[in-house]
Amino acid sequence: MVKKTNKSKKSIIDYNFTRQEKQAFSNIENELSYIVANRKLSRKTIEKYPNDIDAKIYALYETIQGFLFDIKQCGFKAQSYDSDYKLPCRNGNNGFQLHSRRYIGNKYKLIDWIFSIIKSECEGRSFTDIFAGTGVVGAQASKEFGNVIMNDFLYSNYAIYQGFFGDRAFNKGKLEDIVGQYNNLVQKDLPSNYFSKYFGNKYFSLQSAKIIGYIRQDIENNKDNLSEKEYYILLASLIYSIDKIANTVGHFDAYFKKESVSDKFLMKLIEPIKESSITIFREDANKLIKLIKTDILYIDPPYNSRQYSRFYHLYETLIKWDMPKLYGVALKPFPENMSVYCKTGAKFKFDELVKNANANYIVVSYNNTYDSKSGSSRNKISLQEIERTLKAKGGTKVFEKEYRHFNAGNTDFKNHKEFLFVTKVKNGQN
Ligand SMILES: C[S@@+](CC[C@H](N)C(=O)[O-])C[C@H]1O[C@@H](n2cnc3c(N)ncnc32)[C@H](O)[C@@H]1O
Repeated sequence: MVKKTNKSKKSIIDYNFTRQEKQAFSNIENELSYIVANRKLSRKTIEKYPNDIDAKIYALYETIQGFLFDIKQCGFKAQSYDSDYKLPCRNGNNGFQLHSRRYIGNKYKLIDWIFSIIKSECEGRSFTDIFAGTGVVGAQASKEFGNVIMNDFLYSNYAIYQGFFGDRAFNKGKLEDIVGQYNNLVQKDLPSNYFSKYFGNKYFSLQSAKIIGYIRQDIENNKDNLSEKEYYILLASLIYSIDKIANTVGHFDAYFKKESVSDKFLMKLIEPIKESSITIFREDANKLIKLIKTDILYIDPPYNSRQYSRFYHLYETLIKWDMPKLYGVALKPFPENMSVYCKTGAKFKFDELVKNANANYIVVSYNNTYDSKSGSSRNKISLQEIERTLKAKGGTKVFEKEYRHFNAGNTDFKNHKEFLFVTKVKNGQN
């Protein structure tokens, strides 16, 4: 139930969630750092999915924008702010965690299952996450193994890994001051810029887009005053903060067209991870594999024709900041980093990757999430092809888990299985 006390603009809004909703929030608390709520908070969007609590939360997360409250700091109560309220950098001890980000195919919810198998089946001191995506698998591996390699060919993922795991020094207080200043920018004083020109009133409100573009340019202008680590922490924080207000289902293939976006951008810092010994690459996996030796190789490529570089093009544009011409309704740049794993030759590339692997164990994640009737979502490599390739390299076990897939408010339980292959590489094959 939503109670609203109408005391002009500064009124306090209490969101009295039902017990069931609170329970659901506590389950996802680790994923949400804050919720941005709308001045016109309406339960209509929530009640569209009366029987599915996860979908409700998703609807909240996706569509309610405008005011900010921190779910951890405020319990389930929110305070509304005037538009000119001075927002400090409210990082406290709860900056963005590595997994606090929407990313298709991320394995965060499967981490315990994956590592329970890896720990019982594999031995060694080094681990490579060669298609690292969010980096959550590599991050977990860094708690278990002495040396970890993390790789992904996207610029934005590289920036995020450097921000979280880069081993250079940084000054947290200095970064908090910078972010505090960013959060007090008055958008009407800001000129329009590359980011607002293309993305304003589309993926973001015009105001937020102006601020985001201004901040990105400011980080670049200040590069000489920042350590490498500080530079990447700011870039990674910008990505994570944007993710919380983007007018999308979580990727940038399209934006919601009907709703007027009245958000208020607020930047928050990421929480860098200290105790890691991670070597970071931004390479094509099939090239990198020829250069490295590792005890355990973890492989989680894309399996359908949906290109990550196209889904997350906005972050690539933001991080590269070379201001390319953008095309089409979705405002994408000229294609770059188009993965062969999303094309018909995928199985040959997978074969090549496994053959060239200098590893003692190969662990492969495979799922039939997108095993649908539409061609673009059908898997490019079959389960049997994976198995055949791996068996040629060594003794292979297959583990499977029923897994609930969650996608843009639609849940699909049908036949969705997550598989984990573990191959003990034969002598002479590594
Ligand atoms: C399924 S996602 C990995 C998800 C990851 N395991 C996680 O938990 O977040 C696949 C990743 O592979 C990357 N990728 C695709 N083709 C690649 C290639 N040829 N070389 C390196 N990375 C690639 C994509 O950018 C994407 O982040």
